[in-house]
Amino acid sequence: MQSRRARLDRFIASHLGISRSAVRPMVARGRVAVDGVVARGSNQLIDQFTHVTLDNQTVQANTPLYLMINKPAGVVSATVDARHTTVIDLLRHPERHSLHIVGRLDFNSSGLVLLTNDGRWSRQLTSPEQKIPKLYRVTLENPITPDNVEHYAEAFAAGMYFAYEAITTRPAQLRIVSDHVVEVSLVEGRYHQIKRMFGRFHNRVIGLHRTAIGNLALDPELEAGQSRELAAREVLTIFPARPDKG
Ligand code: URA
Repeated sequence: MQSRRARLDRFIASHLGISRSAVRPMVARGRVAVDGVVARGSNQLIDQFTHVTLDNQTVQANTPLYLMINKPAGVVSATVDARHTTVIDLLRHPERHSLHIVGRLDFNSSGLVLLTNDGRWSRQLTSPEQKIPKLYRVTLENPITPDNVEHYAEAFAAGMYFAYEAITTRPAQLRIVSDHVVEVSLVEGRYHQIKRMFGRFHNRVIGLHRTAIGNLALDPELEAGQSRELAAREVLTIFPARPDKG
């Protein structure tokens, strides 16, 4: 079942292969329970993580799952791939095949990748309206110095026009870490975006590592290829606070 909400009678009917009119009397007689409480009515809304029972037998009992992995370069951000190792191949979790990726990284990029079975959470994180910042540590072929950093920073902040997609990138921030290393913050994820942005300056990206998504930083304890479940607190606090309006 998708994470969008569905009517209880529709869900049970499709799950058991019976008609909705057959489900309604079951609900009316109190045979169906939702999260341990007798269902209020056939039109009650449930989602993919609602625990549903019929005559005390489980119809659905999915648990939401959220993982972070430190993706190594040379691994594909995909669930299946005929030629290369995928981030799913690196996981040991028994439920790994129920997960999808929240925001890909290029084959040669490394760092924080999130995986979940909760479509609502991943849609919120990747929705352009949410403008969730993603932080990257970028290693460049040519140095960025205090003298030329302003050119880069202005172009990144103004946005760059990508003719292929006919879009202008949203304002991005850039900070010098050392001669060849900068930190870039983006609120979107266009195809090869960072490489193309530095390409405008004929400065090749030779290393790209994602260090944070929203308020969630890559766990420094995770070696390349290692993963762990997120704590419940991290699942919620990843979303930056919205500035007050007015
Ligand atoms: N920008 C890129 O060019 N590649 C990535 O993987 C992420 C951002």
